[in-house]
Amino acid sequence: MASFTKIRISLLVLAASVLVAFAGNFYQEVDITWGDGRGKILNNGESLSLSLDKTSGSGLQSKKEYLFGKFDMQLKLVPGNSAGTVTTYYVKSPGTTWDEIDFEFLGNLSGDPYTVHTNVFTHGEGKREQQFHLWFDPTKDFHTYSILWNPRHILFSIDRIPIREFRNQESKGVLFPKNQPMRMYSTLWNADEWATRGGLVKTDWSQAPFTASYKSYNTEACIWSSGASSCSSSQSSNGAWLTQEMDLASQERLRWVQKNYMIYNYCTDFKRFPQGVPAECTTA
Ligand SMILES: *[C@@H]1O[C@H](CO)[C@@H](O)[C@H](O)[C@H]1NC(C)=O
Repeated sequence: MASFTKIRISLLVLAASVLVAFAGNFYQEVDITWGDGRGKILNNGESLSLSLDKTSGSGLQSKKEYLFGKFDMQLKLVPGNSAGTVTTYYVKSPGTTWDEIDFEFLGNLSGDPYTVHTNVFTHGEGKREQQFHLWFDPTKDFHTYSILWNPRHILFSIDRIPIREFRNQESKGVLFPKNQPMRMYSTLWNADEWATRGGLVKTDWSQAPFTASYKSYNTEACIWSSGASSCSSSQSSNGAWLTQEMDLASQERLRWVQKNYMIYNYCTDFKRFPQGVPAECTTA
């Protein structure tokens, strides 16, 4: 009896450790690829910071490539007068017909709201911008920014609240990223020619260096390596994230964000698309 219980417990522990999301150590998960010391891994790999000054910004990329995944990052954005700065968090494949799923955080004057800019590129073609303001101050605390990318949809969420869904509508002839492995990237750079009020507000270099802070890069993903995926072809042995869709409660929350916090949607920009908005914008 005792040994039976023991076996059961060790099986449970094993099952739990397989299912648990991977909480990455930054030393193991990312390379700082740009910025000449302005990007730093801290606290034994538990946190990280990127900084920007007049000479340069900084950036990182994941060591791994993924073909589908759920990528969570906790971020605290540049505080104070961050006008002109842009912090990005995205996944992207290489080449000229790349796929990309983007979060960009456009800084602002002290007290004015950040703009969260999102985009989806398929085969090198973007033009699918949606922008939001936030229901909290993203510079005061860490918040979790998530990209879910599975064969059914792409979902952008903040603190588990969905802000944007890009559904797989290949049946309508809309391209969907599903063949090109992507890496995760994050950068902090100066974009004062366009970022804040279309370039009217310039970066105030007397406030430099500007710093964004990171922790808890958690992934559940199919790792792509030597031309093969770590996920099994039998769906049931993979994580729930790979087949996850929106339930009614998350649809409700998505509508709440879009109604109250969305400031730009390409799907309703009829001036920009006089011949009609792109096919994925119509729900039928
Ligand atoms: C900055 O603040 C202004 C004023 O509230 C707002 O209109 C704008 O969307 C904000 N974001 C950026 C990136 O300019």
